[in-house]
Amino acid sequence: MSLFKMRKIRAFTLLFCIITFSTFLFSYTFPDPSLYFYKYASRWSDSLFSKGFCSCHHCMTEPDDDPWFTERFNQSVHPFMTTRNSVLSEETFRWWQWLQSERQPANYSQVVEKLFQVIPDEQLYMDANPERCRTCAVVGNSGNLKGAQYGGLIDSNNIIIRMNQAPISGFEEDVGSRTTHHVMYPESAIDLENNTSLVLIPFKTLDLQWIISALTTGTIKQTYLPVMSRIKANKYRVIIYNPTFFKYIYDTWLESHGRYPSTGFLSLMIALHICDEVSVFGFGADQFGNWHHYWEENHLGGAFRHTGVHDGDYEYNVTLLLADKHKIKLFKGV
Ligand code: C5P
Repeated sequence: MSLFKMRKIRAFTLLFCIITFSTFLFSYTFPDPSLYFYKYASRWSDSLFSKGFCSCHHCMTEPDDDPWFTERFNQSVHPFMTTRNSVLSEETFRWWQWLQSERQPANYSQVVEKLFQVIPDEQLYMDANPERCRTCAVVGNSGNLKGAQYGGLIDSNNIIIRMNQAPISGFEEDVGSRTTHHVMYPESAIDLENNTSLVLIPFKTLDLQWIISALTTGTIKQTYLPVMSRIKANKYRVIIYNPTFFKYIYDTWLESHGRYPSTGFLSLMIALHICDEVSVFGFGADQFGNWHHYWEENHLGGAFRHTGVHDGDYEYNVTLLLADKHKIKLFKGV
């Protein structure tokens, strides 16, 4: 055999060995190269197009690989009541009636029928889609808002949810000046602007009768406390918190801690289920550990944490977890 032929065979053998070895190495490291390509290409396009579940930077509804969140987040339970979802299961009805132990409740379905003759019967906000970017601010009443200067940030959201007795006037720099939704129950009610939606949390059948009355005849003046007999609110913008959603929040998110969730936690859960991005303000103690309201001088007042009805610590821990998992942005104030 000539020297030239011998060199050729050796070169071929070497090349063959290199190809075999590198093919083995590549398939061992990346079992399916097309998968590898897909994984990185899709990661790149995801970050460019926000995964297509909404048009915000983050989308609440995008599939999540965090089991804690996915086990809890249920989009099939709607936050607001309509005639269609107003029929309660026996278990929910019993639980709901137990909340404030109403002695002689009126007929629930008759009251609901009357209610939707006064306020709109619409399914609202369940319209997540790739074009939607709904940003929401949930503004609790904590004293940690005082001096926080969040006004501009809060007002820049599409939906701004406030609650109970929260005033704005005189506090605009810290808490903002717009309110799209005000969450309340009869005993915590205040008058609203015409363009603000009143979100009523009913704890009993009488609360549904109260809103009918407060918007019409003004006959109900007392529940377990004296209440406003009439309320200044746009009746075309009145929304009722769905008791089934209320129970889902208590069972699933609070795992039955406390007697029932606080207004703040119930409001946060509205935002989680109707918004794409959620920013949370005014929750928790201030820097000195006080649990007062931002409009109160007395740091010992507004003892939200000590009502005995809510488990403030548990609620706050869930809120912190949501923030850790980047589901909400939590602004802790001062
Ligand atoms: O006191 P109030 O219930 O009106 O406050 C509304 C909500 O704000 C509470 O339900 C609670 O979630 C939140 N809050 C808080 N820390 C405070 C005061 C209120 O987290 N110091």
